[in-house]
Amino acid sequence: NPSSNGAMDVTSPKRARTQGGASAKGKKVLISDPIEQVCVDILQKAGVVVDCKSKVPPAELKKIIGEYDGLIVRSGTTVTAEIIESAHKMTAIGRAGTGVDNIDCVAATKKGIIVMNTPGGNTVSAAEHTCALIASLARNVAQGDASMKARKWDRKKYMGVELSGKTLGVLGLGRVGREATSSSFSCPLLLFSSSPPSPPPVISRMQSYGMDVIGYDPFFPPDASRKLNIEPVSAADCMARADFLTVHVPLLDDTKDMINKTSIATMKPGVRIINCARGGIINEADLLAALQSGHVAGAAVDVFESEPPAEHEWALIEHPKLVATPHLGASTLEAQGASTLEAQGKVAEEIANSLVAAF
Ligand code: NAD
Ligand code: MLT
Repeated sequence: NPSSNGAMDVTSPKRARTQGGASAKGKKVLISDPIEQVCVDILQKAGVVVDCKSKVPPAELKKIIGEYDGLIVRSGTTVTAEIIESAHKMTAIGRAGTGVDNIDCVAATKKGIIVMNTPGGNTVSAAEHTCALIASLARNVAQGDASMKARKWDRKKYMGVELSGKTLGVLGLGRVGREATSSSFSCPLLLFSSSPPSPPPVISRMQSYGMDVIGYDPFFPPDASRKLNIEPVSAADCMARADFLTVHVPLLDDTKDMINKTSIATMKPGVRIINCARGGIINEADLLAALQSGHVAGAAVDVFESEPPAEHEWALIEHPKLVATPHLGASTLEAQGASTLEAQGKVAEEIANSLVAAF
């Protein structure tokens, strides 16, 4: 799958039940980040021995990893080449979520270890958070709220801009950028359609605000873009023409720092930039300098180079034109499994089934 980020999406509960169940018996799995109970239940039901240990220091993880046939992580555990080197029995590493930038996929592959993720489970949450950040950025919602909580009534200071008629540039037309999730979605206007309706993406949600959308993705065909009313453009044009620029690419060697001082210099003065994908895609020092100079009128950032942020990152977070959220893209009641939708429950369920299938 050319749009994948290096991990295999092998989410198939049926396959797990029919092919993997028997050979999963007696296997040992470490879950090293907090995860919904359903994950543990599915593994145990398949006869897997499960250890849940959060915040294991890297040196300790390296010491114990050799005991395990499988490892399940979210974003808290960094699975380095060094740790993988000691994973002598490991069959598969499962990421309950989308981004696998915290796993050294190359080292795992060299060792014959499968890396699996669960793309799609939290896509709607990430797409909705992106849209919330765009709207908040346009109308200074966060700054206005902070000012009122300081008992101020600054109507002039927080003049906003309309989204209608503005150009939204989207870098990365994958699940979050282009579409939501592959699970069922009901849209009243399409209830009578014979085929399942496509879920609304960041793009169609923002089109409903009246934004013109341009997009770049090296793997997404221009004709397919046009069908979604996205004008296909080059990366350079996307950056140069956008009033609002949102990134939805995985963090890879060639996407690291893709927004930097050189690319920012080609953008319109007054551009607003959103990162709800991964810390490191936007160079934080260069973004801060551009906010300070005023070339970038505002930015909204959910993800950071270090999480929690390192000391040097707070200057960016504290900049008055920056709206920051602490990696909340997938943090919804649904994503935590606390509502009937249970998106994160789905992620936990999917990764457990994938691991059983892998065994
Ligand atoms: P995806 O793999 O479906 O889509 C990524 C797209 O980026 C692909 O279509 C790929 O072709 C494209 N791409 C790769 N290199 C590119 C480049 N140089 N220029 C332009 N496009 C490029 O991934 P997704 O599920 O849509 O996730 C997008 C991002 O959002 C990832 O970084 C993921 O980790 C992140 N994410 C964050 C949260 C959150 O909590 N904030 C939640 C879910 C996903
Ligand atoms: C993801 O990649 O799935 C999101 O960033 C959410 C998470 O890390 O939990």
